[in-house]
Amino acid sequence: DQRRQITETLAKFRLNNDQLLEVKNRMRTEILNGLGKKTHDSATVKMWPTYVRSIPDGSENGDFLALDLGGTNFRVLLVKIRSGKRRTVEMHNKIYAIPMEVMQGTGEELFDHIVHCISDFLDYMGMKNARLPMGFTFSFPCRQNSLDEGILVTWTKGFKATDCEGEDVVGLLREGIKRREEFELDVVAVVNDTVGTMMTCAYEEPSCEVGLIAGTGSNACYMEEMRNIETVDGDEGRMCVNMEWGAFGDNGCLDDIRTEYDRIVDDFSLNPGKQRYEKMCSGMYLGEIVRNILIDLTKRGFLFRGQISEALKTRSIFETKFLSQIESDRLALLQVRSILQHLGLDSTCDDSIIVKEVCGIVSHRAAQICGAGMAAVVDKIRENRGLNQMDITVGVDGTLYKLHPHFSGVMHQTVKELAPKCNVNFLLSEDGSGKGAALITAVGCRLREQER
Ligand code: BG6
Ligand code: GLC
Repeated sequence: DQRRQITETLAKFRLNNDQLLEVKNRMRTEILNGLGKKTHDSATVKMWPTYVRSIPDGSENGDFLALDLGGTNFRVLLVKIRSGKRRTVEMHNKIYAIPMEVMQGTGEELFDHIVHCISDFLDYMGMKNARLPMGFTFSFPCRQNSLDEGILVTWTKGFKATDCEGEDVVGLLREGIKRREEFELDVVAVVNDTVGTMMTCAYEEPSCEVGLIAGTGSNACYMEEMRNIETVDGDEGRMCVNMEWGAFGDNGCLDDIRTEYDRIVDDFSLNPGKQRYEKMCSGMYLGEIVRNILIDLTKRGFLFRGQISEALKTRSIFETKFLSQIESDRLALLQVRSILQHLGLDSTCDDSIIVKEVCGIVSHRAAQICGAGMAAVVDKIRENRGLNQMDITVGVDGTLYKLHPHFSGVMHQTVKELAPKCNVNFLLSEDGSGKGAALITAVGCRLREQER
């Protein structure tokens, strides 16, 4: 009977093919709402224009600084791009920590910290006086009216610094640099991480016209036809749109597949009611879903001898890397127990079997709904091009995609099943989004020269 009750609880996370197809179709509806002039304002999936109008062509050249803010790591990079027959990209980077107090302090503190890190990096590289052009990977929803302006719509994930929402983050960065009075920079582009990732991959593989992040957060971008982007003037050519698909479901359209555990995770997050799809499929939240299921099973006496330990009450203990370890097939149950032990959870052999099962079902659903979203995207592109069958490459990054033993496989399989007319090649980004941001900056600099 205990077994039956556990199975029933976990069954809430099982989605059948019809349900997944529903998710795909609903994503398509939200995509159209985000792109449409009349529907955009009330849309949840915002489909923000990025002012990136083409993938790289190899003619990009120069030395650029890049910032990469919003994923697990904050990086400052120097990217040296050489065009020509033997094109090369040389990168130097340094990772900096952003303490929680800074992520959730004042905007001024956050940008002072960022500028402090840039300063340290320039010293480290011996380039304080270079006044380099810079590309800013800023992985949050921004309304853009040009390449070098990004108005932060709302913080997502673990950030909540004050006085930034509604502001142009390039302006905030420029002000921070001015306050420091130590060096100058020329901020040329603000870039979402999905867009940077797509560009990084497209530099090697020109069929790459989609970017996907399955990491701390979840999001995608792709090259959309200008004629379909009703929020920007002009009908010629294409533009990359930052979908901000994490907000899918914020109008309630996924409520039938959300469980009580998804609701608890949402309620106790920094942004209740927002980013509901992201909270079902990205690294920052999967461990929280798992933890809440475990608490419930413990309360019902099925786990940990019915004792809710301090560890189990601790938010965010199940990081992506632990979930990935627990689900690793090569790991014996004894090792699962030792991971749990390391997290402060005393488990029996039976406990560890259940914990592994819980982790498995939560990450499986995550990969499936992420795949359903991607199926909607590639099919939209295929229809745009009037093709019956289409080959396309998706550039991907993110710790969930990279570290988890099953996420990528289940996601690929779901896309295959839900978008059978697309032959999708997933290309892992090895170099992060900073390279792509530098490539965009290179194009931005060239366009500016031409306008002069
Ligand atoms: C990195 C990119 O490789 O992946 C970042 O350079 C991106 O721009 C990140 O935000 C996403 O993954 P995660 O797991 O660190 O959020
Ligand atoms: C969040 C952000 C989005 C970003 C994604 C992946 O969803 O809002 O801009 O692309 O995380 O980092």
